[in-house]
Amino acid sequence: MTGISDDEYVEERKLEHIKIILEEDIDYRVSTWFENIHLIHNALPEMNLDDIDTKVEFLGRVFNYPILIDSMTGGTRKAMEINRALAEVAGEYNIPVSCGSQKAGLLNKDLVDTYRVMRDVCPDCYIIGNVGGHDIVSDPAGIASEIVSMIEADALAIHLNPLQEAVQHESTVRHSKVIDAIQEAVDALDVPIIVKETGAGISMEVAKVLESIGVAAINVAGAGGTSWSAVEVYRNMLRRDDLMADVGRTFWNWGIPTAASLIEVLSAVDIPVISSGGVRSGVDIVKSMVLGASLAGMAQPFIKAYFKGALKKFLERIIHEIRISMFLVGASNIPSLREADYVITGELLEWIRQRGLESRWL
Ligand SMILES: Cc1cc2nc3c(=O)[nH]c(=O)nc-3n(C[C@H](O)[C@H](O)[C@H](O)COP(=O)(O)O)c2cc1C
Repeated sequence: MTGISDDEYVEERKLEHIKIILEEDIDYRVSTWFENIHLIHNALPEMNLDDIDTKVEFLGRVFNYPILIDSMTGGTRKAMEINRALAEVAGEYNIPVSCGSQKAGLLNKDLVDTYRVMRDVCPDCYIIGNVGGHDIVSDPAGIASEIVSMIEADALAIHLNPLQEAVQHESTVRHSKVIDAIQEAVDALDVPIIVKETGAGISMEVAKVLESIGVAAINVAGAGGTSWSAVEVYRNMLRRDDLMADVGRTFWNWGIPTAASLIEVLSAVDIPVISSGGVRSGVDIVKSMVLGASLAGMAQPFIKAYFKGALKKFLERIIHEIRISMFLVGASNIPSLREADYVITGELLEWIRQRGLESRWL
């Protein structure tokens, strides 16, 4: 049961993505490669579990846990309830939260409150706005400023989703002049810009370009979790577009696995990096932090927990896993976690070698 009726489904096409994500198996059928990162177990941690301090600093703010509720929704009444719940839990746990693409709020002012609700319920939350890179090209400074002021955002996430656009039934696939647009937005805004993928990952080459134009942080959103190509397969099937459904199946597993993307981006830039895309446990988060990530984001697990009425239960589980993992590597806080040792094996090791990254990682 998703809690979304078929009427709402027909009336509010924006709910299609959520409905598909809740009802179908739309995960990558390749992994994040986190299983290739092995933290070294410490049988003598010489501390108590209660001694673990999970506080983390990101873009000038201190959060209680290195967890980001990643960009998901807005633009419909149902999305307003979801955003309210996500902001409430983010406030209670002092973690950052992002809203979904605010494009619908730009086009229809009646929908602004479906995003704005986050700020209204949590004036002190660190809330990240969201818009597509290709959606700001016509007026980067103007559109980016409007998106930020819509929710008094603390930062703006600009998403890159060329894969999803390319496999969509209705898409015209415009992705030129995005770099210039992001740079203009960076210059115009007085809040930091985070650039994120949506599940296909960011390479070191792209990361270098982003850093050079003044982007403040990168969210890798790599492959191994939610596959947007898979989501579009189901949307294309609903529209009886067999050709594009087949194209979507071909690209189901396209992308850079999250652990590989994280290693690439951390090798290339000195700005904060967020690990995301298939992050599913506190162990994945701690592995990301050991490599050097500043935060780890999750999207699909939060929306599923919301519909089960179990947002807090889910967060408690993840936090407990983070604390146990830190304890078992003998790191009482996040800075000492970054000193923890690890071994990299398998396909991730091969990737590091072929991309010429041995000097930093091996
Ligand atoms: C229901 C849902 C809606 C999403 N909508 C957006 C969006 O509007 N903007 C965006 O940048 N990413 C969006 N994403 C992508 C996520 O932020 C994330 O990058 C991606 O799903 C990979 O993370 P995951 O494997 O934890 O889901 C969405 C994800 C989900 C599950």
